[in-house]
Amino acid sequence: MMRFAPSLLARRWTRRGLFQVMTGSVLLAVACSRRPVAPTPSPQTAAEPTVTVLPTRSGGSAAGPIREYTIEAVEAEVEFAGRRVRTFTYGGQVPGPELRVREGETLRVLLENRLPEPTTIHWHGIPVPNAMDGVPEVTQPAVPPGERYLYEFPVPVAGTYFYHTHVGVQLDRGLVGALIVEPGHEELAYDREVVLVLDDWLDGIAGTPEEVLRQLVGAGHGGHGMGHGAMPGGSMPGMGTMPGMTGTSGEPPEVEPDLVYPLYVVNGRPLEHPFEFVGKRGDLLRLRLVNAASATIFRVALAGHRFTVVQADGQPIEPLEGDALRIGMGERYDLLVRLDNPGIWPLVAWAEGTDRAAQAVLRYEGASGQVPARVTRPRELSGELVHGLRCRARSAGAEFVPDVERPIVLGGGMGQYVWTIDGQAYPAAEPIRVRRGQRVRFRLQNMTTMPHPMHLHGHFFRVGESATAPVRDTVLVDPMREVVMDWIAENPGRWAFHCHHLYHQETGMMRIVEVT
Ligand code: C2O
Ligand code: CU
Repeated sequence: MMRFAPSLLARRWTRRGLFQVMTGSVLLAVACSRRPVAPTPSPQTAAEPTVTVLPTRSGGSAAGPIREYTIEAVEAEVEFAGRRVRTFTYGGQVPGPELRVREGETLRVLLENRLPEPTTIHWHGIPVPNAMDGVPEVTQPAVPPGERYLYEFPVPVAGTYFYHTHVGVQLDRGLVGALIVEPGHEELAYDREVVLVLDDWLDGIAGTPEEVLRQLVGAGHGGHGMGHGAMPGGSMPGMGTMPGMTGTSGEPPEVEPDLVYPLYVVNGRPLEHPFEFVGKRGDLLRLRLVNAASATIFRVALAGHRFTVVQADGQPIEPLEGDALRIGMGERYDLLVRLDNPGIWPLVAWAEGTDRAAQAVLRYEGASGQVPARVTRPRELSGELVHGLRCRARSAGAEFVPDVERPIVLGGGMGQYVWTIDGQAYPAAEPIRVRRGQRVRFRLQNMTTMPHPMHLHGHFFRVGESATAPVRDTVLVDPMREVVMDWIAENPGRWAFHCHHLYHQETGMMRIVEVT
């Protein structure tokens, strides 16, 4: 067993290359097993919002009506299952307030930074003008403590999105929130909707994100611990013995993550005190799922129900029925659920490759009874799985004939915690240059043993070469898989392109794509 900084009691799984974050008591109590933290019942209380998200007005202007919000980034105390932690939030709550805007409107957000550190906001998935993209030192200087920054851009496309900080490892605090863009004309018929933000949580419970990053990186250089021979990534010699690249078929693997968190939450609530939503028998419910986690792929299922996935990353897909859904970091999926099975049902978000989960609870009108305080794996989780590579666009696109095509090799590994694109670790990495208007094909080749949800800023892309390749902004690339990503470089500027695993991004798996 390894022990790190006193504030971060963690240990390594030398045999499997797994880095586990745990609380001290659990560490001592369960030694080598990985049982979840025992629930300690106490009411879940949201922190007093110190502010202040005001949909202040919707006025007219040449660029379309303006929807205006003020968001205060502020330290606040929040409570998880009886543990109070001081963390970074938007408006004093976790997740941050939901922003809503209509397609074609202009979103204007005044960010007030009351944090002790610089920060920014990135509008994940929205093709904003480059200067509004919120990537520090790339599209703007980070906003210093005590200062404000005005984000303003037209929102051209409907769907389920989210906003989050793009500074350091701040994302692994509470600086995330849903951003819902309503369509001018809704073609989906449903009775009500619920937004569910999935997250993994360690801040204040197992140290801080910065400490975890230091431990991950330090573990590699120390030469002891996260070991030798334990699932080295693609930068290590001996990769020649790995099986060859495979195509896009087959069920996705359940890979143990490089971080196992002490808590997983849905809408800021751990499973002992789940977020509840009400359903009415006969209704068609729309669930908007956002994976805002830093390092966790979730498998989601609603006990007692099947569902139909209708959108991926906010874009319509050919409806896909299933029992369970795999959702990577940065991805969003919209589901329709027919409420035909009255009762009280857990919606389980299982942290892939672990024995832990978060849950929310669907309570039918009139159903009374206790919410289960522990989660058992619902059988739906082993049922028919919907995942990114099964998605097809609702309407076929024109054939994509690339002007430029290039491999993008994802490399790196746990041994020396460095993650690369084409062998280079950002910021020591060259920009990828494309000309405005070019049709670009990236062949993402994952030469590592971990999945990487790759996200391109400022553009949508199509995944796969078929005419019904779905439109996405994030694509989960599994170990030893190749995925094709086609996009048109139509938004000029310097765009981040990175793995949405925060600790991979921070340790190199990012590039700037320059569209000039
Ligand atoms: Cu949601 Cu650069 O990311
Ligand atoms: Cu990654």
